[in-house]
Amino acid sequence: MISVRSAVLAVLAITSPGNAIDLLVRSSGGNASSPIMYGLMHEDINNSGDGGIYAELIRNRAFQGSDKFPVSLEGWSSVNGATLKLQKQTKPLSVALPVSVNVAGIKEKVGLANSGYWGIDVKVENYTGSFYVKGAYEGFFTASLQSVLTNEAFGSVEIASKSVKDDWVQHSFTLIPTKAAPSSNNTFAITFDTAGLKDGSLDFNLITLFPPTYNNRPNGLRVDLVEAFAALKPKFLRFPGGNMLEGNTISTFWKWNETIGPLKDRPGMAGVWDYHLTTGLGLIEYMEWCDDLHLEPILGVWAGLALDGAYSPLDKVDEAIQYALDELEFLTGPVSTKWGAVRASLGYPKPWTIKYVEIGNEDWLAGRPTAYDAYKKYRFPMFLKAFSQKHPEIQVIASPSVFDDMVIPAPAAGDYHPYLTPDAMVASFNKFDRLSKQNLTLIGEAASTHPNGGKGWDGNLMSNPWWGGSVGEAIFLIGAERNADRVIGATYAPGLRNLNRWQWGMTIVQHAADPALTTLSTSWYLLGNHPLTKTLPVTASSGGIGPLYYVAGTGEKGTGVFKAAVYNATQPVPVSIRFEGLEAKGSTATLTVLTGPENPYGTNDPFTHANVVEETKSTLIASEGGIFEFSLSRLSVAVLETGETRNGP
Ligand SMILES: *[C@@H]1O[C@H](CO)[C@@H](O)[C@H](O)[C@H]1NC(C)=O
Ligand SMILES: *[C@@H]1O[C@H](CO)[C@@H](O)[C@H](O)[C@H]1NC(C)=O
Ligand SMILES: *[C@@H]1O[C@H](CO)[C@@H](O)[C@H](O)[C@H]1NC(C)=O
Ligand SMILES: *[C@@H]1O[C@H](CO)[C@@H](O)[C@H](O)[C@H]1NC(C)=O
Ligand SMILES: *[C@@H]1O[C@H](CO)[C@@H](O)[C@H](O)[C@H]1NC(C)=O
Ligand SMILES: *[C@@H]1O[C@H](CO)[C@@H](O)[C@H](O)[C@H]1NC(C)=O
Ligand SMILES: *[C@@H]1O[C@H](CO)[C@@H](O)[C@H](O)[C@H]1NC(C)=O
Repeated sequence: MISVRSAVLAVLAITSPGNAIDLLVRSSGGNASSPIMYGLMHEDINNSGDGGIYAELIRNRAFQGSDKFPVSLEGWSSVNGATLKLQKQTKPLSVALPVSVNVAGIKEKVGLANSGYWGIDVKVENYTGSFYVKGAYEGFFTASLQSVLTNEAFGSVEIASKSVKDDWVQHSFTLIPTKAAPSSNNTFAITFDTAGLKDGSLDFNLITLFPPTYNNRPNGLRVDLVEAFAALKPKFLRFPGGNMLEGNTISTFWKWNETIGPLKDRPGMAGVWDYHLTTGLGLIEYMEWCDDLHLEPILGVWAGLALDGAYSPLDKVDEAIQYALDELEFLTGPVSTKWGAVRASLGYPKPWTIKYVEIGNEDWLAGRPTAYDAYKKYRFPMFLKAFSQKHPEIQVIASPSVFDDMVIPAPAAGDYHPYLTPDAMVASFNKFDRLSKQNLTLIGEAASTHPNGGKGWDGNLMSNPWWGGSVGEAIFLIGAERNADRVIGATYAPGLRNLNRWQWGMTIVQHAADPALTTLSTSWYLLGNHPLTKTLPVTASSGGIGPLYYVAGTGEKGTGVFKAAVYNATQPVPVSIRFEGLEAKGSTATLTVLTGPENPYGTNDPFTHANVVEETKSTLIASEGGIFEFSLSRLSVAVLETGETRNGP
């Protein structure tokens, strides 16, 4: 994993304070607030779920498909001349998985091999797998991992057949390679000996293989990617979308009730980013992700809008509302309720707690203007009324924000999704100042997506995160932090991108099968690491906002915290700052500064391992009056945290 380089300097060069921006952080009078939550947003966008954070290594494991994405043998190849045939059996593995693969051959060891999601990472660790077989067979199956490039086998395991003529029998195994593979260009294969066949062939379905997962959860998440997210110190997870929630058509939205239970009962769904989803990463897996990282779930519920613009007419909205209330009952209801009992039957008797529910996703976009009018006139008000009655403890969030031409009825909040140029991000610094406390907003997606002067979505989207864009985002988020009493939280989007699928580039984490390619974007992880429990007013005796943008407040341990970023400066900006109530000469503060390359379009590149962001940590010592002096370079993001806590009011 590429992370920021770190250098610890004992002393920092101090510029002459004469032309410095001179700031005083008051000890009271700010906007008392709960800290803005920095979080994550996830939907299965271009293999960030399947082939991404969901740890399943086998691609197309159950030959799932839909009208939009017909069933295929994608990912599979034959071993030793075997014939692979997709079949709809009269006796399928399950209703949800009607198609299986028939494997026939004449040689000793025939079978099928899977190339994973653009490769399979092989280490000396426990791989847990299983497959279903139908057909009489006496003998052993061999499950193995091997190189595409050299055919070298890294490990294999023999599994005694329990297979019978007319039934599907699950075979489970653990495979521990004896050697780590030098690259991720590997396949997983299952083979058998045709001499042991009674009827010339075998049927296979639901072939799965997992490496060790985060917290060792069965059907769990990829360790390195969860750790990369954990390093951002997130506070919430917004899921399952995003466009994935809405679905392509009115009948193919993300049906939570089809993402729960045993994998053989999950049909998957037609994804909205060009491939069929397994939904192995389902509702419960998302909740476990929240549990593992102590994240507040922000649950998106389907609000009766599909991406093709179709939406629920008035007489169908109650159905959609009931469907969402059932989802809430499934997650939070006691086991005595209908859906609470279903949850318990799946092994989860303990109810979860949900504090935030978002009604739909970007309802201002698809089917505009009529679908949006329907959202404003009846879809949202009806949902809000039902949730206020049944779940007054839940903060309901509308999918548009006050900036999307919608008056959000109390007590709901809105959701704002700026995808902008860095200049526009900086110009939005004051955006939240104009809101009243009743205009509570989530920033459920945000990123600098276009270079300054960029055309927008149909023009020049940047294909990689770049430093100038990151600084723009940091300034936008500093503006949000100043108004933490109006902003629930903020998250970058998308959160993950598989490097083998082009999507827009501004992701927190990019990944591929090989964990060495995991690449972090660094802009706001510094901000998330220093939550403010209270903002405090800053008085500037010289210099105002711009090119230095800042927020100050009290950190979680009672320390003084100052966050700043410099944009559009021609030279380094000298800063002189003191904190009322922390005026002792000789007291210390830690200054962490992120800087980028000379060229603002410099990006982090997973293939060359170039990391353009440099982190410098230094300890500052206060002069007379508790003054800290430092200088920030022309495109930088910084956090100063005092060593001492405030003893003032
Ligand atoms: C594996 O190697 C083959 C042969 O060089 C190449 O065609 C293929 O793209 C590679 N696949 C991956 C996932 O690296
Ligand atoms: C595989 O799992 C077993 C049981 O949990 C454990 O004892 C062993 O150390 C693991 N092996 C490897 C290579 O991680
Ligand atoms: C899930 O719920 C939807 C909407 O009510 C329904 O159409 C569908 O049949 C349900 N799926 C299953 C497997 O029960
Ligand atoms: C913002 O909140 C105020 C109440 O303070 C309300 O009157 C106004 O309509 C809200 N604005 C929007 C656009 O929702
Ligand atoms: C930054 O400078 C450029 C060039 O002078 C100007 O066009 C742009 O508006 C400035 N952006 C901000 C946010 O100040
Ligand atoms: C998803 O990835 C595919 C394959 O690389 C690409 O063609 C497609 O444009 C991507 N989808 C979107 C919405 O960008
Ligand atoms: C408090 O909120 C106002 C908007 O009403 C904003 O302009 C100001 O910057 C905030 N103050 C602090 C200290 O963050």
